Amino acid sequence: APSQRHTSKQRFLAEFSQCLYEFVIQLLPTREELIVKEDVRKLLERLIRTIEPESRLLSFGSTANGFSLRNSDMDLCCLIDSEERLSASDLVTMLGDLLERETKFHVKPLPHARIPIVKLSLDPSPGLPYGIACDIGFENRLALENTRLLMCYALIDPPRVRTMVLFLKVWCKRRKINSPYKGTLSSYGYVLLVIFFLVHVKNPPVLPNLQQMPPMRPISQEETTLHGHNIWFFDDIELLRGRWQSSNTESVAELLVDFFRFYARDFQYNTGVASIRAGLLKKDSKGWASESDRGTARERNRLCIEDPFEVDFNVSRCVTRDGLYTIRGELMRASRILASRPERAIVALAQLCE
Ligand code: CTP
Ligand code: MG
Repeated sequence: APSQRHTSKQRFLAEFSQCLYEFVIQLLPTREELIVKEDVRKLLERLIRTIEPESRLLSFGSTANGFSLRNSDMDLCCLIDSEERLSASDLVTMLGDLLERETKFHVKPLPHARIPIVKLSLDPSPGLPYGIACDIGFENRLALENTRLLMCYALIDPPRVRTMVLFLKVWCKRRKINSPYKGTLSSYGYVLLVIFFLVHVKNPPVLPNLQQMPPMRPISQEETTLHGHNIWFFDDIELLRGRWQSSNTESVAELLVDFFRFYARDFQYNTGVASIRAGLLKKDSKGWASESDRGTARERNRLCIEDPFEVDFNVSRCVTRDGLYTIRGELMRASRILASRPERAIVALAQLCE
């Protein structure tokens, strides 16, 4: 009997891996969608240059990091290379007026937000059945860098890393635990949890720690500092292949089962901080546990995920007590479904994303 159990488990995992690949492929953006989005970016860049000739408009977030699902939002960042430039809030106001006049987008400028942005959307049309939603921010260079970091992690092992991340993005959206405004976690937060797991929890690791690998040549502090943060990481993935190979051979299904089990059961939510830069840290050592601190620190730091570059920033500070309770409940539910190993793997997948 034990060996029979063993083989039925192996069979389930092999089938589930296959299901995951097939499921995720259908969710990737189509070529047309990518072309339309790039056209939109170019159009917007041309318009912005009529206000700020020295500006560039760059993609970040999922459209640029390899973790994009079909019809996902566009995140754009405007960089201005000249010394004398308008303030972000003036730019947001002016750009809002211009786009309102010159384009068919619905435009909502938010010049007084913590990070001023212009929100744009386009209604669905036959060529664009889901429309487009897009945010334009300014000078958010750290977001461009963390996008590049995630992209590099995706490139190291696309079959396993991208499949896991894309599946989890669908899962958390379907299970409604992907709304920072409602006390749950952003997509960015979930991606960091996956990378933390693959770098620091799995043994042997599936991914190296790109921020701790020795550089190939001496680099000056100036080159690697942005707004006071160390943004260096090993970014030559071609070269990396010659220097680092994972000896972890687990399938994507095994990794996913283990991911759910780890975050459902083992991660120390009360004391731990997930840091992809430094491994598991303590809330205490980062000053994220102090009860006396205005009484709100505890509430802000229920779940702690350190930003890879802005290390004083808890990416999951929006997660409330109830939000974390719901997220953990969902992780347990997923873990339970997978542990029960339904007869057909496709049934497990459907249940997970119900
Ligand atoms: N970001 C950040 N800090 C946060 C949240 C987001 O720096 N607390 C930046 C990151 O560069 C991230 C980007 O904003 O890649 C977009 O975040 P998000 O929309 O959460 O992730 P996406 O991968 O774009 O997910 P989705 O497809 O759901 O939009
Ligand atoms: Mg996004």
